[in-house]
Amino acid sequence: MIAPAFPPSSPPAHAVPAERLPELLRRMPKAELHIHIEGSLEPELMFEMARRNDVQLPYASVDALRTAYDFDNLQSFLDIYYAGASVLLHEQDFYDMCWAYLERARADNVRRAEIFFDPQTHTARGVPMRTVIDGLHRACEDARATLGVDAALILCFLRHLSEEEAFETLEAALPLRDRFIGVGLDSSEVGHPPEKFARVFARCRELGLHLVAHAGEEGPPAYVWSALDVLRVERIDHGVQSSKDPALMQRLAQDRMPLTVCPLSNLKLCVFPQLAQHNIRELLDAGLAVTVNSDDPAYFGGYLNTNYLEIFAATGMDAGHAYRLARNSFEASFADEASRARWIGELDACFASFA
Ligand code: ADE
Ligand code: ZN
Repeated sequence: MIAPAFPPSSPPAHAVPAERLPELLRRMPKAELHIHIEGSLEPELMFEMARRNDVQLPYASVDALRTAYDFDNLQSFLDIYYAGASVLLHEQDFYDMCWAYLERARADNVRRAEIFFDPQTHTARGVPMRTVIDGLHRACEDARATLGVDAALILCFLRHLSEEEAFETLEAALPLRDRFIGVGLDSSEVGHPPEKFARVFARCRELGLHLVAHAGEEGPPAYVWSALDVLRVERIDHGVQSSKDPALMQRLAQDRMPLTVCPLSNLKLCVFPQLAQHNIRELLDAGLAVTVNSDDPAYFGGYLNTNYLEIFAATGMDAGHAYRLARNSFEASFADEASRARWIGELDACFASFA
């Protein structure tokens, strides 16, 4: 859990001239805590897998597929995202997708990645749970050994399905319990409040799994309250609708509850009409433990550093904000204490040497 002290010590913002801020954003070490691995599947790799697995995609070409990436809301994206995942059949497919993401993460100076996966999207098509988890896990192991990226998996339940199906998914995954660190809740938010999953989250809590949930992406502040008080999550994914409720803002700030915010996702899914109107700076300045993340980078126009660069350019945040966001990302991660301290030390050294 993130430390209550606020604000964390940060370097003087004036020490970094505005024209060098992009270089600092790229170079600083950081963690990514909100990435759906199926949302990192680039069209080129998707078509390659469709070819080798003999799966028919409803698009004629990579270009035709990219043209379809023009979303009005979360559901219009999810329809295409689930169709894209249909090419994933074999352990090697899951490995290749995850490895491609981890190489991109390394290039963005990501030290730690906590990666969501949606097993129900695959088991519903007859892919065994073990195939999914083994492929993703092997890529994470290789990344630790050869890329220096520390990666861990978080199993997400699809909230448009029933709690009973979530329980079945948990049962199927439990023989592989040592290969994921927690559970999350994703997919269509409105109409599927967190409390629908109260019992399965209580069971996961008993099992010692970490708990996170998407809440307040499109859904109301009430969903953030119930993620906190009913599901008892340790992080809120998105949470940007919280700014509509002053009492909720106070609660989130007081608890230093991490919010894994995804700027380009919010833009592409029309949560905010323009990046300049995004409320991340307001949330951060109100003392919330905000982090920056890419959500589904193959669909939303960029990986983690692109999210940092574009949201900083649009909102005028400075080096002090950059430090707080990167530090929050490590403090909010589920990595062990020693690793978090080491990465924060690297972050401090990066800022100290950046004169
Ligand atoms: N699954 C993948 N991306 C998602 C998002 N942004 N919200 C909810 N579910 C998702
Ligand atoms: Zn998400």
